[in-house]
Amino acid sequence: MTVCEYRPGLEGVPATQSSISFVDGQQGILEYRGIRIEELAQKSTFLETAYLLIWGGLPTKQELEAFEHEIRYHRRLKYRVRDMMKCFPESGHPMDALQACAAALGLFYSKRALDNPTYIQDAVVRLLAKIPTMVAAFQLMRKGNDPVQPRDDLDYSANFLYMLNEQEPDPLAARIFDICLTLHAEHTINASTFSAMVTASTLTDPYAVIASAVGTLAGPLHGGANEEVITMLQEIGTVENVRPYVEACIQQKSKIMGFGHRVYKVKDPRATILQRLAEQLFDKFGQDEYYEIALEMEQAVEEKLGHKGIYPNVDFYSGLVYRKLGIPVDLFTPVFAIARVAGWLAHWKEQLGENRIFRPTQVYTGVRNQVYTPLAERPQIWDKQAVTIQSIVN
Ligand code: CMC
Repeated sequence: MTVCEYRPGLEGVPATQSSISFVDGQQGILEYRGIRIEELAQKSTFLETAYLLIWGGLPTKQELEAFEHEIRYHRRLKYRVRDMMKCFPESGHPMDALQACAAALGLFYSKRALDNPTYIQDAVVRLLAKIPTMVAAFQLMRKGNDPVQPRDDLDYSANFLYMLNEQEPDPLAARIFDICLTLHAEHTINASTFSAMVTASTLTDPYAVIASAVGTLAGPLHGGANEEVITMLQEIGTVENVRPYVEACIQQKSKIMGFGHRVYKVKDPRATILQRLAEQLFDKFGQDEYYEIALEMEQAVEEKLGHKGIYPNVDFYSGLVYRKLGIPVDLFTPVFAIARVAGWLAHWKEQLGENRIFRPTQVYTGVRNQVYTPLAERPQIWDKQAVTIQSIVN
């Protein structure tokens, strides 16, 4: 076996072979199963894209209808899941709520049978169907309201916005939200997908796979960045403050949220599409106060950091789209998760196909052959605690 050099963050180290998606970071190309993201965004729906990712090819009309039908009728949550959610603190982050709910599904559908195609199909349908309902239900419950039941006459994206905002969405808003889901559905071996694959490789249940991926997506260096972008734009406040803010970040060597990517060294193709979607929403529903600031930021960062390949990533413009759709800021990452479930499930299935448990090695940096010091001979700090315990007993 060849011994590889240690590379922090496993940068450039292949962790798997995959035929699900492809990224060319120099040219800004993203393909799902060989189809350009721009084409899927324009022509496909999210569920059609999810089918493509998970089952490996675009569905026929009949296959798509059957898939949509199944998902439509599995959107409801068991009342015990809703009861469990009622006990969550309303101040808790929705990503934590989602992680707990995804894991809880494993309690209800516990007969793991990874070699049974029906089990795989059922898990795919349940997770795609129920995760949006969980996100919307937590949002209403934390406001003290009952969750809204899914509506069978609405498609996947319109139904989510309906459950969230308690009113049927504008058709353009629903279509744009659906495109956002398509754009976020998959992105090769990023941190959360890797997390899903490692968990999958132990042959645990798919609900645990998705729960671990949700936990990984939550971090600010990954999916959580979309939330941080809005906070940052809010803090900057005016177009005039943009350049001093960028300068200060560069001087303090702090990361500017929504910029930079391990793979893309040009503007993320998804950011380009999201920016266009944001503009279409602004045309119909009115401008966003932060858009001018965002445009100035993109220009300033390109001038200062473009030579390092730092450009807007997927998280930079997505928040502006979600704000216009009436989605609260701390639901941005759960919305990312709703979409990414498709990619995680595709990788789960692929992992099961040729599974070998992940068990990398490490470069040990600790000491060895240490002398063991018995407790009584260690520093005296423990004596005080012993006295306290004695006095309680007496
Ligand atoms: N702002 C300023 N400088 C940056 C940024 C940024 N956002 N990103 C990278 N750099 C600089 C970094 O300081 C370093 O400079 P130098 O070589 O002079 O030390 C160089 O670029 C390479 O940075 P790195 O941290 O080694 O790059 P990485 O591949 O480890 O990190 C990243 C990638 C996405 C974690 C990072 O760019 C970042 O933290 N961005 C901000 C958070 C963010 O927007 N995350 C969303 C990522 S895309 C969607 C997703 O994954 O969910």
